Amino acid sequence: MSQSPQTSGGTGKTAIQSAAERFGVIERPLLEWTPEIAEETEHLYQKVKDHIPRIEWPVYAPYISAINRLKKERNAVILAHNYQTPEIYHCVADIVGDSLQLAKEATKVDAEIIIQCGVHFMAETSKLLNPDKTILIPDMKAGCSLADSITGADIRLLRERYPGVPVVTYVNTSAEVKAETDICCTSSNAVQVVESFGVDRVLCIPDEYLALNVAAQTKVKILTWKGHCEVHERFTAEELLAYKEADPQIEIVAHPECPREVVEIADYTGSTSGMINYVKDRKPPKVLLVTECSMASNIESEVPEVQFVKPCNLCPHMKRITLPKILDSLCEMKEEILVDPAIADRARLAVERMVNLKH
Ligand code: 13P
Ligand code: SF4
Repeated sequence: MSQSPQTSGGTGKTAIQSAAERFGVIERPLLEWTPEIAEETEHLYQKVKDHIPRIEWPVYAPYISAINRLKKERNAVILAHNYQTPEIYHCVADIVGDSLQLAKEATKVDAEIIIQCGVHFMAETSKLLNPDKTILIPDMKAGCSLADSITGADIRLLRERYPGVPVVTYVNTSAEVKAETDICCTSSNAVQVVESFGVDRVLCIPDEYLALNVAAQTKVKILTWKGHCEVHERFTAEELLAYKEADPQIEIVAHPECPREVVEIADYTGSTSGMINYVKDRKPPKVLLVTECSMASNIESEVPEVQFVKPCNLCPHMKRITLPKILDSLCEMKEEILVDPAIADRARLAVERMVNLKH
């Protein structure tokens, strides 16, 4: 993954005091399965019981109890993306959502420390919007194939090639890339952002499929890049049509990072939260979520009348975030996200323009 910021957890030693120095390190608490922990966490178990066997709960519950206690002691909040595993999403997260919701919520957070359960670009976005807060990610290696597909130098070359054409950058990019662009977008607002310039040509990068799916919804000519999400690019129309043929009742709900041929056969396409809302509002008898695996697991218990068909793909980056690593983050105040001040102000502007766009 692209490591644009200087990090206290990586090789980039900075003169800045580390989060561990500022807040102090505390010893990892004893993780015991006791009757008290069983009682305290039972209501949380009920939310994940379809995904975690009862016999395994004594392993999860002590972590969950310790994380929830330490969060309060440290004045920290946990922001978790919809792709996090059920025990993170339901049992320790304070705020869950899609990329846009998490970016917006990050601006409202009161706590001193934000633990970002998601991938690096999300934590970096939180840092851009909260320069005075401490942003921690439980695993600095949680990257993204889209963020890795493009650099700031690539954007400068695109600007030379297409002078005067506005550059809209998907939020799944490094701060270095955001700093070179006019405005960010997410999957939930990409069409609106592209149209906000009132011009006939816009560069929408780096996700080729998102760009093609935006192009199908607007008169603006879209120029793009060859970046792809390694999770969504694997779905094919052929595979999905086979499910539909086997059971015509199945509704297909896709993410716009999927190839165009997939989106064309979907009954609905939208951001992860858009997909969740569609299922909750419409309650189709059977649904196939064309996205990362944890999404269906996270919402299944909230819509028991819906049957989920699961040909899902895992995001290996999202899955780097685990309860033990979240606990280590809270105890040792790691890994801290720092953004190079030389790029932070310009990158922040691109994110803020998006967040402040009127709906
Ligand atoms: P959204 O949650 O914004 O739809 O993004 C999906 C995604 O792939 C994030 O990495
Ligand atoms: Fe990146 Fe795709 Fe993983 Fe999202 S699901 S973090 S876009 S690789």
